[in-house]
Amino acid sequence: MNRWVFAVPLERLGEGEPLRVKADDTQVVMIKVDGVIHAVLNRCPHLGCFMHKGQLSGHLLTCPCHDWVFDIRTGQFTAAPEITIPIFPTKVENGEILIDLGGK
Ligand code: FES
Repeated sequence: MNRWVFAVPLERLGEGEPLRVKADDTQVVMIKVDGVIHAVLNRCPHLGCFMHKGQLSGHLLTCPCHDWVFDIRTGQFTAAPEITIPIFPTKVENGEILIDLGGK
């Protein structure tokens, strides 16, 4: 079941600039690449480091702690795709970015 919640005003999210937000009680990293907005849980599945401090290269986000690399489109760890970081659907309505926490 969908549960769309407000994340951040659209104008606050710059292209290629990961932004830490709190949506409801969930810490999320919002990332815009090529105009498409992605939302990733702000917790690395390895040891829980904050992902918003990671390095972004295209669609690849590298965890700042031990350099695990995730594809923000799928959530998959590039070295072992069976390991994933949760991702969330996004949409824009009335100048606001919403994310769907329903699958959380
Ligand atoms: S906590 Fe992210 S790679 Fe270790």
